[in-house]
Amino acid sequence: MTEYILAIESSCDDTSAAVIDSSFRILSNAVASQQVHSEYGGVVPELASRAHQSNIIPTVDKALRSCGIKKEDLSAVAFTRGPGLLGSLLVGVSFAKSFAQSLQLPLIDVNHLEAHILAHFIKDSEDAQQPQFPFLCLLVSGGNTQIVLVKSPFDFQIIGKTIDDAAGEAIDKAAKLLSLPYPGGPHIDRLAKNGNSSALKFSASNLPGYDYSFSGLKTSILYTLRDKLKDNPRFIEDNLEDIAASVQFAVVSSLMKKFSLAVKDTGVQTIAIAGGVSANSLLKEQVKALGEQYNCRVFIPKLQYSTDNAAMIAAAALFKYQKKAFATLDLTPYTR
Ligand code: KG4
Repeated sequence: MTEYILAIESSCDDTSAAVIDSSFRILSNAVASQQVHSEYGGVVPELASRAHQSNIIPTVDKALRSCGIKKEDLSAVAFTRGPGLLGSLLVGVSFAKSFAQSLQLPLIDVNHLEAHILAHFIKDSEDAQQPQFPFLCLLVSGGNTQIVLVKSPFDFQIIGKTIDDAAGEAIDKAAKLLSLPYPGGPHIDRLAKNGNSSALKFSASNLPGYDYSFSGLKTSILYTLRDKLKDNPRFIEDNLEDIAASVQFAVVSSLMKKFSLAVKDTGVQTIAIAGGVSANSLLKEQVKALGEQYNCRVFIPKLQYSTDNAAMIAAAALFKYQKKAFATLDLTPYTR
């Protein structure tokens, strides 16, 4: 018998609800994004939790209606427990608990970062492939940068991570210096397509092992632009595409340096990227080339599964559902 799980994601500034069936098929994935933050240049936590409160019921309703699954057809309710913004998480956690309780359904708590990685198990076409364990995943988002050795759906070994800023944060901060809207990643990507990536050279830290540091690169971008603006106050406007291409190249080169090393050392046969920054065109291109170099299978998420979404929460939840690893009503969200 086919079973259905409803999953809810509310860790940051997207309210999302999805329905998955027991063969990892996504039947619906509704996302309500919050425009309210754009004028502040970043996510305002209090505004995010209020918007989640307004969005959660219509979003769940939309997810159920669009695939024709009734509340009574569900077998479990899953939700993002963390990491994320506390106020935002609380909205999803509280809703999931009361919804599940009212229907007498089991609850499944999901770690948001593990879900980004497990999004690769979504089967949204007949010929969709799933990664084989173990695989190495570069998880890159606005808040995290990690190299994760994924040994099973329940065994994630973080072998490298950023010691300061995340890659997405560095890109977003550079974009802010260029007066681009938040989040800056997609704008940098778009502008970089027509720019010269060797126009500007930024200095980046190189830590031992597989760890990352992006704060030095961020400062180097700031100081380089400051110096150029002294000579030409219109430097940014005149060179926007070249600056974007140079920033993108610097961040992606840093990411690839450690990821390539980890792929070589671990000898894995499958590699993947996940998280919002995995939408970046240069990163995707370079990860594909890395796969060819080491003869690895490469998994790159579709755009709708790289940014925050409940479909990935549903995929992670299905693994837990199969093991009957259910959550209790007394659990609380975690921010880190
Ligand atoms: O995983 P995600 O959606 O959410 C959080 O971490 O909250 O990641 C968001 C990050 C932002 O930093 C955004 O600028 C970045 O992903 N991003 C990109 C691109 N699309 C989104 N960065 C580079 N190139 C892109 N095309």
